[in-house]
Amino acid sequence: MAKKIVSDLQLKDKKVLVRVDFNVPMKDGSITNDNRIVEALPTIKYIIEQGGKAILFSHLGKVKTEEDKEKLSLAPVAKRLSELLEKEVTFVPETRGEKLESAIDQLKSGDVLLFENTRFEDLDGKKESKNDPELGKYWASLGDVFVNDAFGTAHRAHASNVGVASNLESAAGFLMEKEIKFIGDVVANPERPFVAILGGAKVSDKIGVIENLLNVADKILIGGGMAYTFLKAQGKEIGQSLLEEDKIDLANDLLARANGKIVLPVDGLVTKEFSNDGEIKAVSVDEIPQDLQSLDIGPKTIELFKSELQGAKTVVWNGPMGVFEMSNFAKGTIGVCEAIAELSDATTIIGGGDSAAAAMQLGFAEKFTHISTGGGASLEYLEGKVLPGIDSISEK
Ligand code: 3PG
Repeated sequence: MAKKIVSDLQLKDKKVLVRVDFNVPMKDGSITNDNRIVEALPTIKYIIEQGGKAILFSHLGKVKTEEDKEKLSLAPVAKRLSELLEKEVTFVPETRGEKLESAIDQLKSGDVLLFENTRFEDLDGKKESKNDPELGKYWASLGDVFVNDAFGTAHRAHASNVGVASNLESAAGFLMEKEIKFIGDVVANPERPFVAILGGAKVSDKIGVIENLLNVADKILIGGGMAYTFLKAQGKEIGQSLLEEDKIDLANDLLARANGKIVLPVDGLVTKEFSNDGEIKAVSVDEIPQDLQSLDIGPKTIELFKSELQGAKTVVWNGPMGVFEMSNFAKGTIGVCEAIAELSDATTIIGGGDSAAAAMQLGFAEKFTHISTGGGASLEYLEGKVLPGIDSISEK
């Protein structure tokens, strides 16, 4: 059954509760990447254009002590949102109570309000994170309908998403709809050939994803630090490259079950220290010197991955190919970005986290069909799991 979308709801003059994921990176009180706010704008604009009163709420970071409250206030987010909307946003520095309720009562159609970090409620018995039934019911009582646009939080069953949805008619926002369409539907029913590219440091972070993709993808290209545990499993000497000793057997098992679907690097860029400045050379994965470590895929692997991508109709990428934060080891990740960008007839998706950051930082953001706003949520979605934040949204 399909989920209700915000456009299925009657919004005029309604108090519309909107769970957004404004868990944005902050440094010294300033937002360092506002992508999640930008991605929520279509839903917010739609609600106010329809004459709804938008009551927004989100978590930010993890609130464990009273001291955390100051640095984890959503006040800077309200300011940025107001700039992006070119409209006043009322910020209420409370998560419940008279002040919040009277601010909501004073809203006129088309107004926008953001209330304080939902995880401030975690200081009192983890009410938000443990989905305290009274809290979900209370937040639901503040509105007439509920829109969940927080895909990044969809893998959590918290009071501010699942709790509210169980007490009110609910619908997905446009961002949530997009994430369901691209990650959920594409992984469930991909146009073929479907090529997945997985990277990042650890096999242990991606076990569920590999297991699920072995069933649905036609090829899985593996780069990044995690590739070396697979190469070790094949009996290769990997020098000082990243190794998860306790995952060698698992890697062997996955390779055996993959029936040739898994494609591993054939060369790497090796160096002595974990640094951008040492001597670097490209070597075959059969010849990694004992005292060196590989920090990126090499040029032959980039060519191999490019050729594997030819003709692909669906590409999902999660995890960088090397230590892209150091420019000398960004070549593999750039090469993969370029190869994906060249595919003219494919749906290309980045499954959030580091690879999304890499594509944006390296200037490829516009080249993909969809870049997920989820980190943990997109990984769990790629694992084929049912995400409680999505599951709790009303059916059409
Ligand atoms: C994220 O950034 O992945 C989401 O906002 C969820 O945050 P969390 O891991 O703190 O629940």
